[in-house]
Amino acid sequence: MNQQNNAAFEVESLNAWYGDHHVLKDNDLRIDSKCITALIGPSGCGKSTFIRCFNRMNDFIPNFKLSGKVIFEGQDLYQPQVDPIEVRLRIGLVFQKPNPFPKSIYDNIAYGPRLQGIKDRTKLDSIVESSLKKAAIWDEVKDKLKKSALALSGGQQQRLCIARTLAVEPEVILLDEPCSALDPAATSKIEELIINLKENYTVIIVTHNMQQAGRVSDNTVFFFNGVIVESGETKNIFTKPLKKQTEDYITGRFG
Ligand SMILES: Nc1ncnc2c1ncn2[C@@H]1O[C@H](COP(=O)(O)OP(=O)(O)OP(=O)(O)O)[C@@H](O)[C@H]1O
Ligand SMILES: [Mg+2]
Repeated sequence: MNQQNNAAFEVESLNAWYGDHHVLKDNDLRIDSKCITALIGPSGCGKSTFIRCFNRMNDFIPNFKLSGKVIFEGQDLYQPQVDPIEVRLRIGLVFQKPNPFPKSIYDNIAYGPRLQGIKDRTKLDSIVESSLKKAAIWDEVKDKLKKSALALSGGQQQRLCIARTLAVEPEVILLDEPCSALDPAATSKIEELIINLKENYTVIIVTHNMQQAGRVSDNTVFFFNGVIVESGETKNIFTKPLKKQTEDYITGRFG
């Protein structure tokens, strides 16, 4: 990867299991800071499992086991003294399926900041507005902030979830197929947003859309069957991949 950038994450010998099912197999990876890294690979190869390792989100899954290290800014996130709640505030995850809380639009966005102790109404109002603007949904919801978030369309719910993640000012944003429920117009808004985010954040995005990976990412990681086959600068992965498996996948000859 681009050696000029600092590493946000260093993954060392990462293995993961659901019960006896070994789904991530001895992976090493460096994720550049303030860059966009795309994770690609066929369905079931372990992308979601891998991205959830970056903010301890797999901790909630019964039977999940992990070995190896995920080092974030010098600290192994799986050391016993690390508080997973703090990890998730610093490293936000937007899921494949939008998952708004059954609360108002306003309360969805204010949830994280309130957890961080912010009570001042003017401050909360301003966080809610700026987060919804950053996620390109403000104009659609500004007149119904007190309405339930569950009444929004799927694409709107996904942008709301992105806004909710941004509201706590994380350092890293993990996006697991954030555009799979969006129409082309909303997708391009989100892509624009993702590209803008990298000025201030490290972004990791799972996508099945090769054009999207090419458009938004600096670096790309190709997974197959739980193993990182190849990783590097996106332009190299897409124009001169080193491995035949990578080439077959990105050209659609896979399978
Ligand atoms: N909660 C879970 N419990 C048990 N097995 C799981 C769980 N989540 C995923 N798996 C299994 O782990 C493997 C990797 O799944 P994962 O969801 O990480 O793949 P993926 O690359 O994100 O796939 P997709 O592109 O379809 O989203 C699959 O075999 C899947 O069935
Ligand atoms: Mg997935």
